Amino acid sequence: MSDYVIILGIETSCDETAAAVLRRGPGGTIEILAEKVHSQIDEHAPYGGVVPEIAARAHADITDRVIAATLEDSGLSLAEVDGIAATSGPGLIGGVMVGMMTGKALAMAAGKPFIPINHLEGHALSPRLGETCPFPYLLLLVSGGHCQFLEVTGLGSSRRLGSTIDDAAGEAFDKLAKTLGIGFPGGPAVERLAMQGDPARFELPRPLLNRPNLDFSFAGLKTAAARVVENESLDDQGRADLCASFQRAVTDCLSGKTKRALEDFKGRHDGAIRFVVAGGVAANKTIRAALEMVAEDAGAMLIAPPLRHCTDNAAMIALAGAERLATGLVDETGLAFAARPRWPLDETSAQADPAYGGGKKGAKA
Ligand code: KG4
Ligand code: ZN
Repeated sequence: MSDYVIILGIETSCDETAAAVLRRGPGGTIEILAEKVHSQIDEHAPYGGVVPEIAARAHADITDRVIAATLEDSGLSLAEVDGIAATSGPGLIGGVMVGMMTGKALAMAAGKPFIPINHLEGHALSPRLGETCPFPYLLLLVSGGHCQFLEVTGLGSSRRLGSTIDDAAGEAFDKLAKTLGIGFPGGPAVERLAMQGDPARFELPRPLLNRPNLDFSFAGLKTAAARVVENESLDDQGRADLCASFQRAVTDCLSGKTKRALEDFKGRHDGAIRFVVAGGVAANKTIRAALEMVAEDAGAMLIAPPLRHCTDNAAMIALAGAERLATGLVDETGLAFAARPRWPLDETSAQADPAYGGGKKGAKA
C-alpha cells in the first residue's frame, strides 16, 4: 500500500447526515479533503427532541446526495478512495443502518474495503483531526447521547473510566428546554436564558457528585427542574433563574468529576497530561470555562476540537477508518458486520458493571 490512505467516511447515527473524504499521509499526517454535514434540526424541532423514525427517513432521503456532493468537493471519484468507513453503531439503529448499508453498497460496487466504525472511536480520535495529540489522553465526551470519561491509549484501545448511569448531559438540557417550551436543541436555548438568571435562586441536586467514582447521573436533576416548572408559576425572570441554576448544577457535576478524573489519570501517567473535551455540550461557555479552570489547576493541557469536529461529523469516522486501514486493523469481515445499537468502546468494563445496564442488547454505555 502507498504511504497515503484516502477514506470516504459516513456518519448517520443521530440527527446529522455527514460525509467526509480524508487523506492520511506518511507519519500519520491528516488532511481533510472535503466534509459536509446536513443537520436535521428543523425536522425534529417541533417535537423538542430527536425522533428516531423521522431521523431514519431523513437520512434515507439525503445520505447519497451528501456523499456525492462531498466526493465532488474533494475532486476525487469513488475509484480513487482506498476504503469506505461508516458508523455502524452505537446510535439510533434506523439511521445507523442507512449509513452503514450505503457504505457497504458503495464498497461492493467499487471493490473497496468496508470499515465498520464505532461512533465513540470517532469521537475519541477527533482531537487528532486538527492537531498532534499523542496517546494517552483523557477524554470527556459530553453530548446529547453520551456523557463519559475515556482514557484513550491508542487506536482501538480506550478504557471507559466512568459514564452516566441514566441520561446524557445534553439530553437533560434538551428535556429542560422542552419543559419550558424554549426550543430545540435545548442546550443553546437554556444557555441563552441562563445569561440573565441567578444560578443561586433554585437549589437543585448534583447527583453522584460526592461519590468516589467517575460516574454521572442527570435524571434526578432533570426531574427536580421539571418539578420547579410544575410547582411554581415562573415568570420570565424565574425561568432564567431556573436555567442558570440548572446550568450551574450540570457544571458542578462535570467539573467535579473532571477534577477527580484528572487526579486519577495523573496518578497513572507521567509527562504532559492532555485533557480533551468533545461533544455538543462542550460548546457551553460556562461549562467550558469551568473545565478550563479545573484543567489549569491540575496542570493539564485542555484540548477542545473546533465545534464542527466536537459534534457529530464524518471526518472523525474517516479518520478512524484511515488509521485502521493504515495499521492493518481491517479485515474482510467488514461487509458482514451487523449494525449495533449498543456498542461500548470498552466492552470489558461495560459488561462487568451492572450500573450501565446489561440486557439482551448488551451494555448501554
Ligand atoms: O454532539 P452533539 O451535536 O450530538 C450528539 O448528541 O451526539 O450534541 C448535541 C447536544 C444536544 O443535547 C444539545 O442540547 C447540546 O449538545 N448542546 C448544548 C449546547 N450546545 C449544544 N448543551 C449546553 N449548552 C450549549 N451551548
Ligand atoms: Zn456523537
